Amino acid sequence: MRTQVAIIGAGPAGLLLGQLLHKNGIDNVILERQTADYVLSRIRAGVIEQVTMDLLDQAGVGARMHADGLVHDGVQICVDGIRHRLSFKELTGKTVMVYGQTEITKDLMDGRAAVGAPTVYSAHDVSLHDIFSDKPRVTYRSEGEPRELVCDFIAGCDGFHGVSRPSVPAGAITAYERVYPLGWLGILSDTPPVSEELIYVRHPRGFALCSMRTPTRSRYYIQCSVAEDIEAWPDQRFWDELKPRLDDEARGHLVTGASIEKSIAPLRSFVAAPMRFGRLFLAGDAAHIVPPTGAKGLNLAASDVQYLSRALVEHYADKSNAGLDHYSERALKRVWKAERFSWWMTMTLHRISDNPFDHQLQLAELDYLFRSKAAATAFAENYVGLPY
Ligand code: APR
Ligand code: PHB
Repeated sequence: MRTQVAIIGAGPAGLLLGQLLHKNGIDNVILERQTADYVLSRIRAGVIEQVTMDLLDQAGVGARMHADGLVHDGVQICVDGIRHRLSFKELTGKTVMVYGQTEITKDLMDGRAAVGAPTVYSAHDVSLHDIFSDKPRVTYRSEGEPRELVCDFIAGCDGFHGVSRPSVPAGAITAYERVYPLGWLGILSDTPPVSEELIYVRHPRGFALCSMRTPTRSRYYIQCSVAEDIEAWPDQRFWDELKPRLDDEARGHLVTGASIEKSIAPLRSFVAAPMRFGRLFLAGDAAHIVPPTGAKGLNLAASDVQYLSRALVEHYADKSNAGLDHYSERALKRVWKAERFSWWMTMTLHRISDNPFDHQLQLAELDYLFRSKAAATAFAENYVGLPY
């Protein structure tokens, strides 16, 4: 088989790239290790920046998001039982959209099916070849048969545990990493959210987050240890640990119920640089990971894809390689700002250290955020998403 761009991975990065390339007349094939149902069963964050919304619209898959997504003008931060509100709209004129990543993935899959672009699910033993030549190839097994895909470029959109990044010669890549000694225990439940806006909670017992998917479906997280056993957390224990971290009003509004999903996510910051190796381009979690505080993961995948799709369109339509040559540098500039922001939110809101000095610094940081318009504006600008 031959195509212009071979895309590894059908997560949000691969699917969005495929859709934007297709719109611009560039052939692409997606190779995905899992089945479509498996990809759709993963529950992930759900806050979409305005620039990401614009990109989903450009890709022609924004209709359901606009119909069903919840526009949020601001966010709330609760510090030791006292709640504060930061208005994105007043501070930046922008808003964010609360809409689950699972729904975005579904919209992208439906969009791809509607235009008949090829995706090979259950593609096994995907292997990248000749990435530094003009004719890179990808080999894999499908339905037990060996296959080969010859292409002009490979987009490695296969997430943190994918095959693309490890295919690069050791020594050509630098990894920057910080692993936090904590995780998020998350619950999804068909109960109304405690508040119309998200509440990020800083509390001596540890961080908590009250989020939502719809007006009748809530998503809650509490900080836990990375070594925590999920079996040790029946629903009641989760609610009993969430409640004391909330303020009185939120506690009063909390409706508990059976969980429909429960999982533990470790917190990690990671960046691999550069993001281009010959004809292989990394995008999304394949190149970088952020801790979930601030919900930047999907939005960063989208910004990489924006730079990469434009660069590929420039290559084919204008016969210019300038965008491809600048891809890594442009993408990493935005990546590092989101790394900084999600690291800052993580360090400011979690119980990470037992040193009272660190606690006082967190409180000073937050007090400054609530009292200074400059600090609040800087926070809001980052939360709603920096321009491309
Ligand atoms: N061969 C083929 N596909 C693979 C391989 C492989 N060897 N390894 C991984 N994949 C697939 C995974 O099964 C997954 O569907 O690549 C896809 C990567 O998707 P994501 O992990 O969702 O990564 P990305 O598209 O970059 O999205 C980034 O979405 O997943 C969240 O936390 C993530 O919010 C972040 C954003
Ligand atoms: C979520 O709703 O899952 C969510 C929201 C905001 C975050 C992280 C996760 O910062």
